[in-house]
Amino acid sequence: MPSLSLPTLGTPLSDAALRVMLLGAGELGKEVIIALQRLGAEVIAVDRYAQAPGQQVAHRAHVIDMTDADALRRLVAAERPHLIVPEIEAIATQALLEIEAQGLAEVIPTARAAQLTMNREGIRRLAAEQLKLPTSPYAFAESLDELRRAIDAGIGFPCVVKPVMSSSGKGQSVLRGPDDVAPAWDYAMAGGRVQLTRVIVEGFVDFDYEITQLTVRAASAPGGDVGTFFCEPIGHLQQHGDYVESWQPQPMSARALQRARDISGRVTTALGGRGVFGVELFVRGDEVWFSEVSPRPHDTGLVTLCSQRQSEFELHARAILGLPVDTALREPGASAVIYGGVDARALRFEGVAQALGVPRSDLRLFGKPESFARRRMGVALAAGDDIGQARERARRVASTVRPVPV
Ligand SMILES: Nc1ncnc2c1ncn2[C@@H]1O[C@H](COP(=O)(O)OP(=O)(O)O)[C@@H](O)[C@H]1O
Ligand SMILES: [Mg+2]
Repeated sequence: MPSLSLPTLGTPLSDAALRVMLLGAGELGKEVIIALQRLGAEVIAVDRYAQAPGQQVAHRAHVIDMTDADALRRLVAAERPHLIVPEIEAIATQALLEIEAQGLAEVIPTARAAQLTMNREGIRRLAAEQLKLPTSPYAFAESLDELRRAIDAGIGFPCVVKPVMSSSGKGQSVLRGPDDVAPAWDYAMAGGRVQLTRVIVEGFVDFDYEITQLTVRAASAPGGDVGTFFCEPIGHLQQHGDYVESWQPQPMSARALQRARDISGRVTTALGGRGVFGVELFVRGDEVWFSEVSPRPHDTGLVTLCSQRQSEFELHARAILGLPVDTALREPGASAVIYGGVDARALRFEGVAQALGVPRSDLRLFGKPESFARRRMGVALAAGDDIGQARERARRVASTVRPVPV
């Protein structure tokens, strides 16, 4: 029972402290850190640049290259965290496997889950080939020729090409016909996270809508076994592979909801450990396809800050600390992303007072030290009597906040 080896919560910065190290301290990590801080954990925030959002609210901050296994090992040896919580995918997961095997720290949810999900091939083969979950048809390719052959041999058009290691839609394109293949290959080569000439090509799923099924693995009774808990489904809208709006609860047929939970339960059970998972699913009528899964809170789940009794960040904090969770919805809600809109070293946000005049609204400005046109700098949140009203309010808040370069 992993939770039994966890020390009890105690005074931070003392011998009694329960120490948690976040690997990645962006806007999602920042909320996890705040939730952990409220429970009195000692939190160490690691990122590859200084003043990352989560570093601004942690006990200590470190800047390292997290893909550097030696740097990671050295930092863990120096800080001796009880828990290591990956917030991003680009981490030297081999080092995490070793740290876990040596019993130096517990990796959330598991080092293997972090490793399998950082590469599209690992998680796709697990889901489709081992667990036999429904997915889009797919193939892998290591050259333009191989990609052409894979599409001709059965994937067909339209299809989607993605680097096996990338996130937020980077290097990803939708192909409508043979003329799109070479540009898609070049784009994927330029957009991958690491120099890896490998792509996945997936048949395009013509879905009615897509959801994130937040799934929590947490103690089902004090000190007891890990159980699986489901949040209400989150609907979302993606642009250029990046989420722009999300809402909860997404209406679904009983059949589709049942399938979504069945798929989510199976994939998260296979990954194991404790914590929140964001299972991405495509839905058409009663049919459901597995797309991918984050073994951590999901960006579309920012909506839960206003819609659930416990946000996905509080759920993650509780689950990893071995505490009970409550996944209940409080009221319908929505989130809308606020982009920087400009490249600038610093921003001023105008219109905030007006924006927060929108009924039942809220706002997070992440405090990122630098703005890019397409960088997510904040998120608008709003509750409503239904998701239509919540979405309209969240969009109104987001468009009323105006980032201005300094
Ligand atoms: N096979 C597919 N069919 C239809 N749409 C897709 C497919 N793959 C990806 N997409 C769209 O692109 C978005 C981003 O793709 P995803 O695989 O989740 O990449 P990332 O890891 O960058 O989030 C999805 O949320 C979905 O809207
Ligand atoms: Mg995704």
